[in-house]
Amino acid sequence: MGKVRGNKAYNVLMVFFSATGNTKKIADRIQQKIESMDVTVTKYDITSYEDRNRTLALDEYDAVFFGFPIYSLRAPRVCREWLKRQEGNDKPCSVFFTYGGFGKEPAHYYIKKLLTERRFTLVSTAEFLGAHTFNYSGWQAAEGRPNQSDFEMAEDYAVQTLQRFKDGDIKAVCDFEKVKYTSEQLDQAEQFRFHVIKQLPTRDDKACTMCMLCETLCPTNAMNALKGEADAEACIACFRCIANCPDSVLHTNDIAAAWENKLNMHQTTKEAIDQMKSQIFL
Ligand SMILES: Cc1cc2nc3c(=O)[nH]c(=O)nc-3n(C[C@H](O)[C@H](O)[C@H](O)COP(=O)(O)O)c2cc1C
Repeated sequence: MGKVRGNKAYNVLMVFFSATGNTKKIADRIQQKIESMDVTVTKYDITSYEDRNRTLALDEYDAVFFGFPIYSLRAPRVCREWLKRQEGNDKPCSVFFTYGGFGKEPAHYYIKKLLTERRFTLVSTAEFLGAHTFNYSGWQAAEGRPNQSDFEMAEDYAVQTLQRFKDGDIKAVCDFEKVKYTSEQLDQAEQFRFHVIKQLPTRDDKACTMCMLCETLCPTNAMNALKGEADAEACIACFRCIANCPDSVLHTNDIAAAWENKLNMHQTTKEAIDQMKSQIFL
């Protein structure tokens, strides 16, 4: 039973996708903060395939937070496809992203476009640093993030967004500068991950207890636990199987050698990424 304000609880839905846990950590912190402010929060995790195929009764909630990692400069394709099936009916919402310290701008621009098309009223967005998924295979981007300063920013974002949700005259988020990449160019960029992760999650010859978790958790039903490999067509390289394997027997190719190239390509350094700050957009 949620806390009651007047005679009606303010109900917020928190929808999130989190393959390796960063986005969930931020979602948990936002939840804690707004629950301390007389708000009922219902979490809805759409990382699993089955949960993305359930119908969601959005009407039951006053406002929605969406939390996504950034994959190839945008919200993951599976999340965008899920969003395209939702009807906003002018409901206020906000989106927070976690990302590994590289490209991110298109994510805000394109999520605003998509949510507006689905008739949601987007009141704010935010981006939080999160250890890069590819660190599991040898990169070193945003290690240890989200950290205390990211969590403090998440609390600030929660308070400011809740205020906007509850304002009688709901204010939309700022306009994001039109990005230089078209959706088609970004679709092509999405293939870049397979230039780096050439060998998709595969079991090595260490002892596997056959718990089947990799197969159960796979967001796209790509993993075959018996074969010990992911289907190349379906795998989105989210690393959920690798991050959750209790026996640590799954891996991709080692991409440590591609780390310097990645930094050079983005004209940045590991230290510069470590210094990056999470941000709120109102
Ligand atoms: C397929 C894929 C693509 C990614 N693309 C980007 C990107 O374009 N920019 C970036 O900074 N981080 C990128 N990342 C890193 C994630 O956004 C980051 O690690 C995020 O916090 C993961 O969230 P999670 O732990 O909730 O799954 C990518 C990760 C994956 C798996």
